[in-house]
Amino acid sequence: MPKESPILVGLEIGTSKICAAIGEENERGEFTLLGIGQARSHGVRKGEIIDQARAQEDVRAALGNAEEQAQVTVRNLFLGVTGRHVEGFNNVGMHPVASDDRLVTAQDVADAADNAKAITLPAEHTILHTIRQRICVDGVEVADNPAGRLGRKVEAHVHVIHGNALRIQNSMRLVQSLSIEVNQPVFNGLADAQAVLTPEDKENGALVIDIGGGSTEFVFQQGQAIRQSGVFAIGGDHVSNDIALGLKLNIGVAERLKIRHGSAVVGAESHGRTVPIGDNEVGLPPREVSLEQLHRIMSVRLQELLELVAERCADGCLLDEARAGVFLSGGCSLIPGIDTLAKRVFRLPVTRATCRNIAGNSATLAHPEFATAIGIARYGGMRLRNRPRPRFSFRDVFPFFR
Ligand SMILES: Nc1ncnc2c1ncn2[C@@H]1O[C@H](COP(=O)(O)OP(=O)(O)O)[C@@H](O)[C@H]1O
Ligand SMILES: [Mg+2]
Repeated sequence: MPKESPILVGLEIGTSKICAAIGEENERGEFTLLGIGQARSHGVRKGEIIDQARAQEDVRAALGNAEEQAQVTVRNLFLGVTGRHVEGFNNVGMHPVASDDRLVTAQDVADAADNAKAITLPAEHTILHTIRQRICVDGVEVADNPAGRLGRKVEAHVHVIHGNALRIQNSMRLVQSLSIEVNQPVFNGLADAQAVLTPEDKENGALVIDIGGGSTEFVFQQGQAIRQSGVFAIGGDHVSNDIALGLKLNIGVAERLKIRHGSAVVGAESHGRTVPIGDNEVGLPPREVSLEQLHRIMSVRLQELLELVAERCADGCLLDEARAGVFLSGGCSLIPGIDTLAKRVFRLPVTRATCRNIAGNSATLAHPEFATAIGIARYGGMRLRNRPRPRFSFRDVFPFFR
């Protein structure tokens, strides 16, 4: 008998796999995962849909699996968004205190926050999230609600995440074509942080990096604020490509080699060792490849990727504030040695992420590839709890589509 209680559904349309997570929240906001469904992804490159029809089939399959496991029928969901077009940046909005007696009002704060959103975005881009970082009155940071204080000027510091409206709309249309409503598009990186960080990690400051097949998302969260975020259109597929090119293998063999014998660091134990490969798919006789060379190729690409993230967090010495350290998720966080490599790059403690503070099947929650979909569903719960909007309004996200 299908459940009729409100359910929370997160959908990640990834480059390697489509993943749907179904959960529910109790009145205390505790999240339980009821089901997870996945399907291999065929219509997505670098996090963006390139074949609508194939992606639709894969989404249908992933949702079907999750529905079966959770024993529910999905009618609406929160949709993950990623891709090179998604960008995050910090902005400050100001507003003079309007009243003659210089008493700050809630309206002054709201006006300052609105001004922070009034930014020039790239053509056809739309804001996905505006997250308040802190409020200052006359340059001094104040608590969340400074109404009642005296001052001359209110400043709202915000983090804005925006993306190409047409590409976001493409993913939304795909879901809608299955007669399922999209409550809200959610940046994948933001969702990851909700799945893998505890409230203590957030308080201490944490950098979450999700390395998937075709893209890598990162988010730096401190308290309720997002300090930095972004996407690189680089992931595990690029690692496999490098292996294929460097060792002259076909891509399928390179992918398997990466998963069976891969490492993100070149250790002394790989020196002089080889692994056999049955390169039957291209009709070549079996041969051996150098383990050291394999690890070196992987290490170069992964280090470059992690350094790109570190560079983006260099502004304002953000990494010095990551007291909880770095959390790695996504399929590539399973690569042996990636935590050692990340420690070298960031000079911070590194954790391979799992979903935390979530009830449900523990084996499923330990899978870092599921963190995004689960985080999207959880973000959905927080969203509905904090601002009950039954349905995402198209105009909110696409203001120029009036
Ligand atoms: N055990 C593993 N060891 C190394 N790499 C892995 C492992 N499992 C998955 N991967 C890699 O992780 C990537 C897929 O990660 P995932 O988070 O599922 O991707 P996406 O979200 O882009 O669909 C692929 O490049 C895959 O080869
Ligand atoms: Mg992913």
